[in-house]
This record gives sequence, structure tokens and C-alpha cells, in this order.
Amino acid sequence: MPERILVTGGTGQLGRVVVQRLVAAGEQVRALSRRPRSGAGAQWTVGDLRSGRGLDVAVAGVDVIVHCATDFRHEVEVLRQLVEAARWGGQAPHVIYVSIAGVDRVPLGYYRAKLEAEQVLAGSGLPCTILRATQFHALVRAGLAAVARLPVVPVPRWRFQPVDVRDVAARLAELAVGEPQGRVADLGGPEVHSAADLVRAVLAASGRTKRVVPVWLPGRTYRAYADGGNLAVEHADGVITFEQYLAERGDAGALRYR
Ligand SMILES: NC(=O)c1ccc[n+]([C@@H]2O[C@H](COP(=O)([O-])OP(=O)(O)OC[C@H]3O[C@@H](n4cnc5c(N)ncnc54)[C@H](OP(=O)(O)O)[C@@H]3O)[C@@H](O)[C@H]2O)c1
Repeated sequence: MPERILVTGGTGQLGRVVVQRLVAAGEQVRALSRRPRSGAGAQWTVGDLRSGRGLDVAVAGVDVIVHCATDFRHEVEVLRQLVEAARWGGQAPHVIYVSIAGVDRVPLGYYRAKLEAEQVLAGSGLPCTILRATQFHALVRAGLAAVARLPVVPVPRWRFQPVDVRDVAARLAELAVGEPQGRVADLGGPEVHSAADLVRAVLAASGRTKRVVPVWLPGRTYRAYADGGNLAVEHADGVITFEQYLAERGDAGALRYR
């Protein structure tokens, strides 16, 4: 019997792929967005995780909720709304939360909120699973492409272990049809690279070379990243590399610079 699964953030970078995967696996998928949507083989429902509008309909009768929606400034509030809605009518669906590797090590406001959201979910009494992933390829590429516009490219002495959303979605799809497990092993991308190497790859992908200058910056957040707080080296379980991701985007660059 297929699960009835609600995917919040079904239009997002990750959520979109989660919906595709679950539908392809034959699951009954309901997907939440703040605006009317259709397609991808899902039943779409309109709701807002901040105001609570439409959530009663969104959660009605679901066995599992894969929470891929995120609100940068209201992450905890949104999670609380979801938990409250999930409990309506005495339901106790399995809630899966997507978090970020290093939320307990990197003192960024968003990371702190993700950590608090993890704790709220774990203490909610609902069956839950929490998966922390490293930075997605697209986020790393976008951040580096922004600095790569400068004539000389300053990059922090950080490393990244970018992971593909398809790898994260595959893990979430497995978790969605399994038993609740609390916090599971983090999911990291297959390779760790310095930000300098990654920016060179992004430059090469558009046929450019520029001088890349690794820089030190002050502050605890900088230090936490420099210490590898954002990595999941023990769990380099993703398979799609940053190089593959760039190549698929139509960018010819490779990580050939050292
Ligand atoms: N990006 C990364 O590198 C990374 C790394 C590790 C973990 N994560 C985590 O992975 C999750 C997904 O990230 P993402 O990058 O895929 O997100 P995203 O592309 O920014 O998508 C955000 C989604 O949240 C939905 N949303 C926002 N506010 C909402 C609200 N008030 N009510 C209902 N839906 C709302 C949006 O849906 P509509 O606009 O259609 O309403 C959208 O689908 C997040 O929890 C993030 O922290 C991300």
C-alpha cells in the first residue's frame, strides 16, 4: 500500500526533486505551495506555513510529511505551525526534517534556527527523522559565481563538500517509506574541495581564468567554517560530484586546478 506523503516546499530546489522521486516510486504525493500549482504527478495543495492557512487540508490523512519548505527568517515558527497542524485530529504522521550539516558548530543565525527547529521537532512527540545535509551544488556555485565577477577573486579559506539535490532527495525518499529514526547520519557530497578550487572550476566552466586569492576573515562564523564545521567528511555518501553538476549545466569546467 503506497504511503500518503505530504511534501512541503514541493516547488523548492530540493522539494521538487523529492516529489519527482516519490511519484516515480509509486507513492501518493501531496505537495504544498503558497500558490496554486499543478503537475509532476502530485496532488497540489495551497497553504502557508507562517499563517497556517490551508494546513488543515494539507495534512489531512497523510502518513508522512517530508518538510522541504524553509523560511530563512522564520524557520522555527514555520516548523511549529507544521507540528501543530500535523497533530490536528489526533494524527501522528512521521515528520522528516531537512537540516544542515554543522548547525551545532557554525554560529550563523539561520543555522541556530535550524538547530532549534530540530529540537522542537524531536520534543514534539511526533515520530520524526532528521537528516542534515551539506551545502547543495547550486548554492555553492551561486555564491562562488557572485565573487567570481570581481577582477581578482577573494575567497575565504573554507572547504565545501557540495551535495546534489538528487542524492539528498534519494535519501529522503528512502526515509519517507521507512520507520522514524530520529536523527540519522548526515549526508555529505562525495568530495571535499577548497573554496579556491571550486571558484576556479566555476570560472573555468565559463571559459575564464582569474587570480584567486584565499583570504582570512575575522569572526566566529568564519572560523567555524575554516575549521570544517560545515563538512560531513565521515558521510561522503552523495555520488554526484560538483564537476558533474557543472558539466550537466552546460558548463565545461572541471576541478583541474590546484
Ligand atoms: N540549499 C542548501 O544548500 C541546503 C543545504 C542543506 C540543507 N538545506 C535545507 O534543505 C531544505 C530545502 O532547501 P531548498 O534550498 O530546496 O529551499 P528553496 O529552494 O529555497 O525552497 C523553499 C521552499 O519553501 C517554500 N516556502 C517558503 N515559505 C513558505 C511558507 N510560509 N509556507 C509554505 N511554503 C513555504 C517555498 O514554496 P512556495 O514558494 O511554492 O510557497 C519553496 O518551495 C531547507 O530546509 C534547507 O535548510 C539546504
